Amino acid sequence: MSPRLARALRSSTIRRVFHAPAPYRCFSCAPRVQEQTKPGQDERMTHFGFTNVPESEKESRVGAVFSSVAASYDTMNDLMSLGIHRLWKDHFVRSLNPGSSIPARDPSAQKGWNILDIAGGTGDIAFRMLDHATNINHDLDTRVTISDINASMLAEGRKRSVQTPYYNTQRLSFLEANAESIPSIPSDSIDLYTVVFGIRNFTDKQAALNEAFRVLKPGGVFACMEFSKVDNPLFDAVYKRWNFSAIPLIGQIVAGDRDSYQYLVESIERFPSQEEFRGMIQKAGFMIPGQGYENLTGGIAAIHKGIKPIHKA
Ligand SMILES: C[S@@+](CC[C@H](N)C(=O)[O-])C[C@H]1O[C@@H](n2cnc3c(N)ncnc32)[C@H](O)[C@@H]1O
Repeated sequence: MSPRLARALRSSTIRRVFHAPAPYRCFSCAPRVQEQTKPGQDERMTHFGFTNVPESEKESRVGAVFSSVAASYDTMNDLMSLGIHRLWKDHFVRSLNPGSSIPARDPSAQKGWNILDIAGGTGDIAFRMLDHATNINHDLDTRVTISDINASMLAEGRKRSVQTPYYNTQRLSFLEANAESIPSIPSDSIDLYTVVFGIRNFTDKQAALNEAFRVLKPGGVFACMEFSKVDNPLFDAVYKRWNFSAIPLIGQIVAGDRDSYQYLVESIERFPSQEEFRGMIQKAGFMIPGQGYENLTGGIAAIHKGIKPIHKA
């Protein structure tokens, strides 16, 4: 080989090694989800964490995340939130006071509350609501349907329900369904619709809010707890640091799945602000009580509420 050719080869190798731009390592674009078909040219795009994906792909990507995390979901929740998610969930349920007496508009109506817990996953909220109705309000009629799109998450919920007094009773049922369209739930049939840490994963959040409005009885309550925007910039910086460095690492160590937890933190970042989300609830037709939301732990999470008006607008 001539010295000139050798020099040229060496310098092109050096350029490749040292000057090629480092590819962005996006954990939420893990190989198993990259194998999706290419989008059609006019297909609408949506977020999957920080990645833009065709709307038709988001559901299966989110499904892959939750199938993967289902078994370790509860342990991971405790580690990621340092146990705080339990306090938030207790507060959420207490603020709704399920099973308290509501004036019967229809004397022939079933007693107790008819509750639909959407994206109910492992049953964390549903069991709390039934416990509250039973132990605080001495109501043995309130019932909850846990609905989730993911069979693995529902299987974890079913497994956990065996340890509760509600197992195999009329008070607890499970439904596999996409929250954006739940035709098996009749219109005007639900007293309380809850969705906790679920809606940020939906492809069409407005469609899910419209569906919530349809299934609720007039006067029925929509209640959502979701990660939100932190109001203090200093606290926000610390929180983001924790989210983006610690959580994927804990996911890798405890659940052997860094990608799914990277998606979870990215999806938190992508979720609309408290004010934007309140606007979406209003757009679905709900009346907003007071400010419409309550910040928890400086806005890390927020509880949103809406009421379906008794009289049609
Ligand atoms: C973070 S988990 C929340 C589980 C539970 N609510 C809790 O707080 O522990 C999110 C849940 O949303 C469900 N989910 C995602 N997209 C959904 C959709 N389009 N319809 C219904 N459930 C959905 C997932 O399967 C998962 O169980």
